[in-house]
Amino acid sequence: MRLCINIDHIATLRQARRESEPDPVIAAGICELAGADGIVCHLREDRRHIVDRDVKILKETVKTKLDFEMAATDEMVKIACDLKPYMVTLVPEKREELTTEGGLNLTAAEFKLTPAIEKLKEDGIKVSLFIEPSPENVDLALEYGADMIEIHTGKYARLQNSVELITELEKIRQTASIAKGLGIGVNAGHGLNYRNITAIANIYDIDEVSIGHSIIARAAFTGLDSAVREMLTIIRRIRQ
Ligand code: PXP
Repeated sequence: MRLCINIDHIATLRQARRESEPDPVIAAGICELAGADGIVCHLREDRRHIVDRDVKILKETVKTKLDFEMAATDEMVKIACDLKPYMVTLVPEKREELTTEGGLNLTAAEFKLTPAIEKLKEDGIKVSLFIEPSPENVDLALEYGADMIEIHTGKYARLQNSVELITELEKIRQTASIAKGLGIGVNAGHGLNYRNITAIANIYDIDEVSIGHSIIARAAFTGLDSAVREMLTIIRRIRQ
């Protein structure tokens, strides 16, 4: 299972002082040297963390693969098509949210998603759709022509009650299995940390996880190299 690191929070720290450090470009290099399989960054409409300069340099410097997370707006589609990252993950975006709060509403967003996906794919960019775990969402993602889905694990990560947690995990497992059976790539992310990653890594239909907050938070105490390696060690105990 591949580990992709979301480096937005390195940029959050930089933007807290509007300084040039810490630089997410350097963070991406450290993550890759520690063994990460890819780098994720989210260019938000309000540029609250990652800014245009970052994505331009990351496109040139990332040696693994760059996953450009974005909302399906005309502005972002244009930036992605100019940039040509390996892949784009389309997410819903609200200005007032602290972080992406849930998966795309695939039934309500058709008017925005269809032209965005067509344009991105025309330009040779792979498209992943961030979705809540459900079989219906997999069918819709396939209809949209997505190459991959990213299953939102935020609810699983928040649940304390073991019955609800097992139910949510089962939903994730079922969604991953259906998507895999249909030939779509299966990613997962949001709220994953050093404790709850084990159950996710045990779902063999999940190809890739995208993790930001827990790794960057640990990096503040242990250093980024060690924080990435610790996560990889946990994953590699279960999966290659
Ligand atoms: N996947 C998506 C689509 C996200 O929006 C985020 C948060 O930016 C992540 C994964 C990573 O979530 P976390 O920071 O909670 O690990």
